Amino acid sequence: MTRPPESLRGATITGTGMYVPERRLTNADLERMVDTSDDWIVERSGIRERRIAAPDQASSDLGLIAAQHALEMAGLGPEDVDQLIVATTTPDRFLPSCACTLQAKLGASKAAAYDIFAACSGFVYGLGLTRGLIGAGVADTVLLVGVETLSRITDYEDRNTCVLFGDGAGAAVLRPCAPGEGILSVSIHSEGSMGDILEVPAGGSRAPASAETVARRDHYVKMRGRELFKLAVRGMEESLMRALETAGLGVAELELVIPHQANRRIIDAMRGRLALPEDKVVVNIDRYGNTSSASIPISLDELVRAGRLKPGDNLGFVAFGGGLTWGASVARWTLARQAAAVPTAEEHVITAPGTAP
Ligand SMILES: CC(C)(COP(=O)(O)OP(=O)(O)OC[C@H]1O[C@@H](n2cnc3c(N)ncnc32)[C@H](O)[C@@H]1OP(=O)(O)O)[C@@H](O)C(=O)NCCC(=O)NCCS
Repeated sequence: MTRPPESLRGATITGTGMYVPERRLTNADLERMVDTSDDWIVERSGIRERRIAAPDQASSDLGLIAAQHALEMAGLGPEDVDQLIVATTTPDRFLPSCACTLQAKLGASKAAAYDIFAACSGFVYGLGLTRGLIGAGVADTVLLVGVETLSRITDYEDRNTCVLFGDGAGAAVLRPCAPGEGILSVSIHSEGSMGDILEVPAGGSRAPASAETVARRDHYVKMRGRELFKLAVRGMEESLMRALETAGLGVAELELVIPHQANRRIIDAMRGRLALPEDKVVVNIDRYGNTSSASIPISLDELVRAGRLKPGDNLGFVAFGGGLTWGASVARWTLARQAAAVPTAEEHVITAPGTAP
């Protein structure tokens, strides 16, 4: 994907929101569930805790709160939304889409609602799609939600994966803006031939749910982490460089890079290759783990509500995930500094020994 022609209008983020479930799953909890240690998890991934959805919360419930906060910041109501796009790998159900379920809960009665399935890169893919829709005049107001309840497809008997994933939601409202502002460029890529490096083997048309698939634990995420690690570092570096080139900017002109939070070491390796200073790269994986398509919009909302972003700042978004999919976007921020506190639900720590999510 390239820079939009000058004749197209731009698309910019005018509101953000996030929500994470109250329940924390700490490394100490995981030590009681599988053969692992706090030291190993922190050293290899940077994660200290992650959030777990309550039994009665599905992805649309998490997405609803994030979406409401984003619309509130944008000064819009649900009826203003033209398109509601949900990036998720963990929809409430496979039919209907998570977006349609969320549409009903939100009351976005006018919106066309649909999911995009690009795993951890879903939010960046969504930015590309949204910029196209708004730029071409197909939509004026797009609500883009990245949401996951990865705890529902995580095998809490598999130490290779269960220490990594968490639940959460982030949302952004996008509206038209002048060309040369907002989303300046998007560079997205896929490599389907490597799809089985990170997969949920069963539950689709290849291996429908059966007693055997359940017994094999094939409805859970399987991952070859070491292989992904190297691909992620390279894919993130290269796509961010491409997005920068398309935007006509250099690395040094970025105020902040907001990477997908897959692993602290992946982020650090990418940062090193791009020679970015540590304070320019956002890291919150210690608190949320890997929330896939939600991780970038969660980070963005935290920055916005902390008053960290000002109009004119150049931001880089960059992600890598299952598919394989990866990509980056460069944006020139247009929203005035926010002073609003982060409106999350009251939090509490679950300390019950061996608590299974
Ligand atoms: C998963 C990941 C954290 C593992 O870190 P790593 O340094 O590559 O570790 P390895 O897989 O090489 O495993 C090293 C050892 O630790 C062990 N190990 C794995 N998980 C463990 C855990 N939770 N606790 C303790 N030991 C563990 C392995 O069994 C292995 O033992 P061995 O040497 O005796 O075989 C890392 O590879 C990663 O983050 N990969 C990319 C993840 C990713 O990008 N995911 C999806 C894209 S969003």
